[in-house]
Amino acid sequence: MHAQNDLAHADKASAYAELEKSLRALLAGEPDFMACAANTAALLYWSLPQLNWAGFYLVEPSSGDLLLGPFQGKPACVRIAIGQGVCGTSAARRETVVVEDVHAFPGHIACDSASNSEVVVPILDGERLVGVLDLDSPVHGRFDDVDARGLEALVRVFVAATLGGGVTRTKRIS
Ligand code: SME
Repeated sequence: MHAQNDLAHADKASAYAELEKSLRALLAGEPDFMACAANTAALLYWSLPQLNWAGFYLVEPSSGDLLLGPFQGKPACVRIAIGQGVCGTSAARRETVVVEDVHAFPGHIACDSASNSEVVVPILDGERLVGVLDLDSPVHGRFDDVDARGLEALVRVFVAATLGGGVTRTKRIS
């Protein structure tokens, strides 16, 4: 299994490349969206150092809100409107948001008082917003551009494995 400090001393970019390989292997052959999302959250939480939360918020088609999806960490806020908090901001802008200090981010939604920094990556299936991937850390400034680009690559692997088409068992969530 993955120890939380596995990647702590590795070069960050190459660590993400290794993590991408691990994610491809983990998701291979199983296109079910929720099962893959659950395992992706677990892989990230247990592989990347200094996290206190890792998981998904997924667009609920009926309301358009972001609804809590598979995650690892403490229980979290269930529903976030597009445009609210860091997650909703990333979803509205459809771009990755890196927050060095969540306490300085206007409208930040505090789920775990231990969180001090955060990164949120939008999940897009073509033009369609599927949800966001959210990582929290107790360390100020934990996430940088290398994390942003590495996590975006991991999200692309996740989308290709679960929503990529070409697989008859692919299950779309909306
Ligand atoms: N902090 C997020 C809410 C989700 S939790 O961090 C798990 C936000 O401001 O959107």
